[in-house]
Amino acid sequence: MYPVDLIRKTRDRQPLTPEEIRFLVAGAAAETIPAEQLAAWLMAARLNALSLDEIRLLTLAMRDSGERFHPHSGPNPIVARAVDKHSTGGVGDKTSFLVAPIAAACGLIVPMISGRALGHTGGTLDKLESIPGFRTALSLDELATSLRANGLAIVGQTPALVPADRVLYALRDRTATVESPGLICASILSKKLAAGLDALVLDVKTGSGAFLRNAAEAEFLAALLVSTANAAGTRTVALLTAMSQPLGSAAGNWIELAEAVALLRNQRSPLTEDLRLLSLHLAGWMLHLGGIAQTPEDGRTRAERSLADGSALDRFLAMVAAQGGDPAVFDHPEVFHRPAVTHTLRASRSGRIVAQDTTALGWAVQRLGAGRETVGVSIDPHAGIHFHYRTGDLIAVGQPLATLYASRSDQVPEAITRIESALTWEPSDSSQPSATAIAPPVPVVLQIIDADRAAAILAKASNLR
Ligand code: URA
Repeated sequence: MYPVDLIRKTRDRQPLTPEEIRFLVAGAAAETIPAEQLAAWLMAARLNALSLDEIRLLTLAMRDSGERFHPHSGPNPIVARAVDKHSTGGVGDKTSFLVAPIAAACGLIVPMISGRALGHTGGTLDKLESIPGFRTALSLDELATSLRANGLAIVGQTPALVPADRVLYALRDRTATVESPGLICASILSKKLAAGLDALVLDVKTGSGAFLRNAAEAEFLAALLVSTANAAGTRTVALLTAMSQPLGSAAGNWIELAEAVALLRNQRSPLTEDLRLLSLHLAGWMLHLGGIAQTPEDGRTRAERSLADGSALDRFLAMVAAQGGDPAVFDHPEVFHRPAVTHTLRASRSGRIVAQDTTALGWAVQRLGAGRETVGVSIDPHAGIHFHYRTGDLIAVGQPLATLYASRSDQVPEAITRIESALTWEPSDSSQPSATAIAPPVPVVLQIIDADRAAAILAKASNLR
């Protein structure tokens, strides 16, 4: 078999056979197929769309490209159910740092295999690595030990664990081939299925900051994910959620962790209520699918209790220590935050912010130093943006809109331009705009997609493939 023949087939919209898909994935994992050929195939798949069969086969081949974790077998099996959540990616999306410890505190285990920054979105692993000493590359034995001790661990793809996604994920980030339902499905589910989950909750984003902005495309992706995961034996539902503005107020690496820990400490703010509510919804579903709660609503109540009594915070800090980090950095997160450059952006006009191009905001965050231009380079843990407004807020001229943290001062002007052009304003008839008028959170959960709903969506959405 020759990679060039497979590129040609996908380019010409001919389906690949199971053997051909396995050959491609094995070549990616072992890095025996050169990057330029993988990139060309990814672009063909992005432009022409894979069939449902090809997506399913690609997902399973990627899952099997390395070792798999089996929490309930072996000499010392774990009894608790293994449940995880995964998001399709957004700006300021830090729900993992809330839902994983909440679910662990309520009796589940969460073996979370996550990714790095992708396109305009931040990566869970990059955020965690802003904690000095934190290790995201654990062996399967270390993963099992952490889960037994604390109920959760957040790790990355390694040469042993989903190596095909490790290679393809990094290539997609550099070749503008992220925005493809089939490639997103295979990337996400290969990691989740390799972790031996009993159940999975997916957070599929739609809106201006999502990879698939259009609601019909996001719905199709959700259906694809739900049906592929259920067919592979993992009970899965998707929550279609709004990504039309950054989630919470912080977008970056360290500042996102600090924001999540503030919520774990019950330090609430109108600017982070959307993050808190979405995390409770996701955790509620995890507890329901994991058999701890009768209903998702009951799950939400239990999740809230674990925030109130501090047990979720304890789990998070225990995970940090178990993975080599120093939990003491969270005693005074503001002291640890040491950006090279800080700049406050003030409103140059009065009015109401009615919409945001959240992808543009995400690129502003990445280009301040929070993301990487080239694979493997290190990123700035302190770079990022605190947004001080929500869509719908009335803003007065001169009011602080955002605080920017950069690695170098020459990065700031470009980020300011991106932020200013991302905001849509409406003139306000009020002569007294108020700095404290923060709009109430918009509904974050737009739709629940279970196996039946997924089947119905896929049956009538063949044109989106
Ligand atoms: N998250 C992933 O793990 N993979 C994608 O392709 C998109 C989001």
